[in-house]
Amino acid sequence: MKGQKVESLQVLGTFRLLGFLTWDTYKTGGSYMYKIAVLPGDGTGPEVIVEGIKVLKAACEKFGIKMDFTEYDLGGERYKRTGEICPDSVVDELRTFDAIYLGAIGHPDVKPGILEKGLLLKLRFSLEQYINLRPVKLYPGVWTPIKDKEPEHIDFVVVRENNEGLYIGEGEFINKGTPDEIAIQISRNSRKGVDRCLKYAFEYTRKRNKNNNLKLVGKTNVLTYAFDLWERAFNEMAKDYSDIKTDYAHVDATCMWMVKNPEWFDVLVTDNMFGDIITDLAAMIQGGMGIAAGGNINPEGVSMFEPIGGSAPKYTGKNVINPLAAICAGSMMLSELGEQAVADAIENAAMEVTSTKLKSMSAGKMGYSTTEVGDLVVEALG
Ligand code: IPM
Ligand code: MN
Repeated sequence: MKGQKVESLQVLGTFRLLGFLTWDTYKTGGSYMYKIAVLPGDGTGPEVIVEGIKVLKAACEKFGIKMDFTEYDLGGERYKRTGEICPDSVVDELRTFDAIYLGAIGHPDVKPGILEKGLLLKLRFSLEQYINLRPVKLYPGVWTPIKDKEPEHIDFVVVRENNEGLYIGEGEFINKGTPDEIAIQISRNSRKGVDRCLKYAFEYTRKRNKNNNLKLVGKTNVLTYAFDLWERAFNEMAKDYSDIKTDYAHVDATCMWMVKNPEWFDVLVTDNMFGDIITDLAAMIQGGMGIAAGGNINPEGVSMFEPIGGSAPKYTGKNVINPLAAICAGSMMLSELGEQAVADAIENAAMEVTSTKLKSMSAGKMGYSTTEVGDLVVEALG
């Protein structure tokens, strides 16, 4: 539990001797002060993050939890102004926080790929956030495009590998610009990288304790190197988890079932690229990007939580974007920090708001402004 982590400053030596006190607990009169780095980012990112922090502050106060927020000005505007995206020194500073809370990355004036690679992927990779955790849950009152499906049918979690696969950005052009051009993009799957992701997925399935079912999603019939490794590693690890039922599905079939029978799923584990694609499909069946949250997790380090949607430039500054995905990302952050009770309180408050207040999850159609939705969640916290 990161909350109990002792700071590594020398000055803490005396306090450490006491065995239970840290400098932070001393400063805050008894409880640990969580240090959160906030990266509001681009577009509607800052608007949803303001609501997320509003809810986090209210919930933490209610539960007697101390949280301190430090804002970082990273994203498209800063890049345009200074040419800097995310300097290594900032990455090192971010390592000293308990968690990172991210709004959105992507700017209409910046060519796609630059900020994504220079900021989002850079942080995921350098902080070794090797898990991308994406819960897919249809909250009460939320419209799903899948006919006849209710909250009890849509409640599963995708564990996406987040540091390897096609995302390593390696490859080459051969004969670039000629009719004989060939572009090669490498998917890297290391045994260690796959094993640590699978281990997280097995442990997560056990802890979740819903159906105790873990499904490997791949493409063993075509990707005969990558998914040969994944499948071997999966089957070997399954022997250590006799309480977990395992099975395998091709990624294309998974897409089909996600629409037809989402109730079949409990926990899915897959590689980076397939995980990226199926979680957009999954986000739609849970009610859209306005409600879908995710965590980039380093179980031994600093994790980063974000609404999984983009920066939505056309809605920027209009106070119409749905902040619930950011609010739910805040709940996931607390859960990862070991504060499950307050994490649950936020999620329950969000569910109360979706079931009793919001007309739609879509920007501009909620029946309330961004700010009002934040207020409603605070109110529902009681
Ligand atoms: C996501 C996004 C990112 C990804 C992009 C912005 C690089 O789509 O978080 O799913 O592909 O991982
Ligand atoms: Mn994506």
